[in-house]
Amino acid sequence: MEENIMENKSLPIYSRVSTGVKGLDNLIGGGLIPGRVYVVTGPPGSGKTTLGIQFLVEGAKNGEKGIYISLVDDSKTIIQDMLYYRFNLLSHIRSKKIVIYDLGAVLSQGGKKPTWKEILKEIKRIILHENAKRVVIDSFTPLEFMVQDPENKRKEVVGLIKLLSTMEITAIVITEMIESEKYTDDYYVASGVVIMHHFMRQYNMIRALQILKMRGTSHDSNLKKIKITENGIEVYNEAPW
Ligand SMILES: Nc1ncnc2c1ncn2[C@@H]1O[C@H](COP(=O)(O)OP(=O)(O)O)[C@@H](O)[C@H]1O
Ligand SMILES: [Mg+2]
Repeated sequence: MEENIMENKSLPIYSRVSTGVKGLDNLIGGGLIPGRVYVVTGPPGSGKTTLGIQFLVEGAKNGEKGIYISLVDDSKTIIQDMLYYRFNLLSHIRSKKIVIYDLGAVLSQGGKKPTWKEILKEIKRIILHENAKRVVIDSFTPLEFMVQDPENKRKEVVGLIKLLSTMEITAIVITEMIESEKYTDDYYVASGVVIMHHFMRQYNMIRALQILKMRGTSHDSNLKKIKITENGIEVYNEAPW
């Protein structure tokens, strides 16, 4: 068995959870390794929220409970936007297989800014309370403007990813990419980093996905073509142009 693993690089050593994004699982050895934390980053409009919801919908279809912790948009806006996709999102919300939790609203209540510690505690409480298997946090970026102690960001973001890693969940944390080409602390501690891109090339809008890092699997880091249709994101194993 041991020898087999050494010989056959494509042998799945770990079980995998499907991302729900057509074409993506194939690029990362069959899916995400469960129990780990992944970062999805990119500029606004690049497809991060869509990918996060698609990941939860895939779980819901398999009876796994998913929770979407929103720090930017309220639940109503997210649901309205995602209704453009054929995800059957409402039925999953009704059956409570997907819960959208508006943490941004909770944190801005009461006028007093919370500390990082309090936010981490609240996130942990929500996940345990819901007994979720899949978790999406969208997005980490505004947290630093919501807390009393923004100077602790580096330490606490790493702490949050480590906390999520100890829980029995597979998590996607979304961050807004403001400066590209820059590694941030979360990239180091996460098990994988996926960058969503969109840019203009010869008057055409190009959409792409890049697997910057994915532990436990071999992959290339080139830009892959993606399409966003009513079925959500689909990834192609080819260059985006
Ligand atoms: N039903 C749809 N069909 C095709 N494209 C869509 C559909 N719904 C949204 N989009 C496109 O998907 C993009 C990505 O949206 P979103 O996932 O919200 O990005 P982000 O969270 O990165 O800001 C939107 O800007 C829009 O152009
Ligand atoms: Mg978004």
